[in-house]
Amino acid sequence: MSFTITGTGSYLPGKVVTNDDLTAFLDTSDEWISTRTGIRARHVAAQETVTDMAVAAARAALEDSGSTPEQVDLILCATLAGEYITPSLGCMVQKELGAHCPAYDLNAACSGFLYALDAAAGYFARGRVKKVLVICAEAMTRLMDWTDRSTCVLFGDGAAAAVLEPGEDLLSIHLSAAGNNDALCIPHVNGNCPYSGYDRGPASLMMNGQEVYKFAVSAMSKGVEKVAEEAGISLEDIALVVPHQANMRILEAARKKLGMPAEKIASNIDQCGNTSAASLPILLDQLSRQGRLKKGDLLALTAFGGGLTTGACILRWAKEKSKKTAPRGNFSCEQKKGGIIMSTFESIVKVISDYREMDPEEITLSTTFEDLALDSLDMTEILMGLEDEFGITIEPDEKLENVEQLVTFIDDQLEKNA
Ligand code: ACO
Repeated sequence: MSFTITGTGSYLPGKVVTNDDLTAFLDTSDEWISTRTGIRARHVAAQETVTDMAVAAARAALEDSGSTPEQVDLILCATLAGEYITPSLGCMVQKELGAHCPAYDLNAACSGFLYALDAAAGYFARGRVKKVLVICAEAMTRLMDWTDRSTCVLFGDGAAAAVLEPGEDLLSIHLSAAGNNDALCIPHVNGNCPYSGYDRGPASLMMNGQEVYKFAVSAMSKGVEKVAEEAGISLEDIALVVPHQANMRILEAARKKLGMPAEKIASNIDQCGNTSAASLPILLDQLSRQGRLKKGDLLALTAFGGGLTTGACILRWAKEKSKKTAPRGNFSCEQKKGGIIMSTFESIVKVISDYREMDPEEITLSTTFEDLALDSLDMTEILMGLEDEFGITIEPDEKLENVEQLVTFIDDQLEKNA
């Protein structure tokens, strides 16, 4: 016994901040943010508390499933930070809804929805519950250093919820954690203990963007492959991938690795940015309300986040189209290409020209990366492509300026490994 989703809901704050708005106080541009991330705007909880957003999303999901708060047997909230360390966000939502069931929070950062679904599946398997309310709510904009342009432009606020009832629609699920506070962390607040000589540093998000980027591309694609295999289905059987929304370029790189067509990858990152745990279920709710999900569709949900955590599952969509439209949000999908293997030089040319969508004839041994106008994420992805192609590791600080140096470097590595 697992579960079926009978209702979804979401809430996005009314205040919308565009990339251009950010240029009023940050040295940034719409061009940089949108080309590096796909983000054009984000919702900011200027008035709402995390509890307000969570409750609004929960009410929408309950209404969508035709349920009342009294019927709920468990409230599970995934969040990085509710209003309080205690009471939990789950308890605050329970109070506001007037529900009478256990409630608690879990923190798996952006993978929170998948972790919550897996925890809920355990309650259904033990026959402990008939109705579970899963809520993901985040006020990421309150966890940022707004003088740090490399992080604050990426995030937004919002909440989403799902009502789960007994069923057999979770076909497979896989979670992972690889403890790491160097790639991404948000320290807790410091108290004022007179005996403490320990300073946690500022309570705002710190991130090594490129380390997270590499982790994310591989985690998202491998996650989908793994759960598809465990569910006994092929990638072609998947109607839609509903991924965590961190960066459009991560989604596109993962899509290429999976070899899936653009129309099978859902995204609303242009309007929402990264809302951590809430991002995937917000998108799921929007897709449902826009009629993009058909009864019987096999969906692949995939996420990664701070921790570092990952989660992926295959979910059969079993509900009819929601009656009301989504509160806000737009969808965008990307384009597609392919790849094959040859000599070192030819393989490098293939990886670069496929990635750049350019004529391979234009790439010679003397072509420099400057000639190709590659930004740091382009380089990261091309190096990842070459790592996959040749089964080697290329450190990001390796000084490589042109294709000839790349050929020599890769040949040396292959010889060492032989
Ligand atoms: N506007 C303009 N320029 C900027 C900005 C900005 N907002 N931010 C950084 N830059 C500059 C940098 O200063 C740097 O300039 P320099 O070359 O003159 O030194 C240049 O742009 C490149 O900076 P990088 O940090 O190397 O940028 P990168 O190419 O790595 O892209 C990004 C950054 C978009 C954050 C990318 O690394 C990424 O998406 N990483 C994954 C992040 C992610 O998914 N996080 C999810 C975590 S969510 C969670 O768990 C809570």
